[in-house]
Amino acid sequence: MSNPPTIHVPPDGEPSALKRAAKRAARLAALVGVSPVLASYWLSAAVRGRGPALESRSQLLSLWPGLTGQYLRRAFLEQVLARCHPTATVEFGTFFSQQGAMLDENVYVGPRCVLGLVHLERDVLLAANVQIPSGGKTHYFDDPTKPIREQGGERKLVTVGAGAWIGTGAIILADVGKGTVVAAGSVVTKPLPDNVIAAGVPAKVIRNRFEPAPEASA
Ligand SMILES: CC(C)(COP(=O)(O)OP(=O)(O)OC[C@H]1O[C@@H](n2cnc3c(N)ncnc32)[C@H](O)[C@@H]1OP(=O)(O)O)[C@@H](O)C(=O)NCCC(=O)NCCS
Repeated sequence: MSNPPTIHVPPDGEPSALKRAAKRAARLAALVGVSPVLASYWLSAAVRGRGPALESRSQLLSLWPGLTGQYLRRAFLEQVLARCHPTATVEFGTFFSQQGAMLDENVYVGPRCVLGLVHLERDVLLAANVQIPSGGKTHYFDDPTKPIREQGGERKLVTVGAGAWIGTGAIILADVGKGTVVAAGSVVTKPLPDNVIAAGVPAKVIRNRFEPAPEASA
């Protein structure tokens, strides 16, 4: 039986001047549209703190589908996160829990991701269902006399280096190097270097990204 054909997808081209102007107008409209959510965010942040205020508004806006949802989420996140570049895209179902999160230029965050204290450097791609909590020690559990929920914990900023691609369903607990590819379903528990491909649970480097893949044995 012959293999099904592979469909090659070309990269996106540069947008025209008209498209750029339309995008600017849409961004302004989104900021106006999201202003009631922003107002309720600032009120709630004053009472409950920024984290809880962010989480609930971010969950609400995560439910808006399509391009409109992308514009509304970006307009909100630009105002409330430590950094959200105007070219970043955040898809349906994705939400944030930490105000200190940073999204740089051309970052793409796929659908249904859950993101904590994370720095996504420029050109990072996250596929669907990627989870990046704020490191692996968000709850301490050493004290036998207390439930884990009462033991505190720590949040660490997890950095995904520029140009990295994180595959579907990966869980990232440690830094990922620039240009590195994390295979679908992997769990990154230790920092990964630049420009490697890592896979598995826990994720291990399988090869350098620019080395040719070894020939499959016959
Ligand atoms: C990692 C990936 C990019 C393939 O990289 P590659 O270098 O071409 O890897 P290969 O397919 O040659 O596989 C190399 C080895 O890694 C293993 N591997 C590949 N993907 C893996 C994964 N997700 N989990 C565990 N192991 C994996 C392969 O089984 C193979 O092992 P072997 O040498 O023991 O046979 C690809 O498997 C992947 O996970 N892509 C993500 C796709 C995705 O999430 N897309 C979402 C839309 S953006």
